[in-house]
Amino acid sequence: MKIILIGYMGSGKSTVAKELAAALSLPFIDLDDYIVDKEKKSIKDIFEAKGEIYFRLQESKYLKEILEQETDAVLALGGGTPCYANNMELIKKESQSFYLKGGIATICNRLRSEKQQRPLIASLSDEQLTEFIAKHLFERRNFYEQADQSISIDNKSIHELLQELLVKVKKN
Ligand code: S3P
Repeated sequence: MKIILIGYMGSGKSTVAKELAAALSLPFIDLDDYIVDKEKKSIKDIFEAKGEIYFRLQESKYLKEILEQETDAVLALGGGTPCYANNMELIKKESQSFYLKGGIATICNRLRSEKQQRPLIASLSDEQLTEFIAKHLFERRNFYEQADQSISIDNKSIHELLQELLVKVKKN
């Protein structure tokens, strides 16, 4: 079985998934890194050269490719992955999924300083960013909430999140 972490940009999916994989002695896969590796371009360059629709198609294709692999692993997805194609159905069917759930303030604080590499928010001012995130989270919530379990990330350290996940993973 695979363990999948989903959630909005900046919710710490990759960092936490990497720690979780190490704690469980499982391989760690980051879908964004996997796409970069296969496409030989950064996410930013893929968006710029080929557009978001192309990115979403590739994202879904590579998600399936990873889920078809027999080996257990901890997988961090991109913020948009659960919200396109039939990705969330696949995630529910093929994995134990966790939504790292952050409030608007937490997400904004984290993304303000790291907008540049994220094509969807790179051109927004700080004021626009708050409004964009509020709307976007609202749109995406229905997908994220379909995860098997939700974990609030607000005011928690990576270590605390990891401990919480380890308890929840073992229980299943
Ligand atoms: C996206 C999130 C990014 C990356 C791409 C699109 C999104 O991943 O897949 O820029 O639609 O939310 P992270 O959540 O790892 O930043």
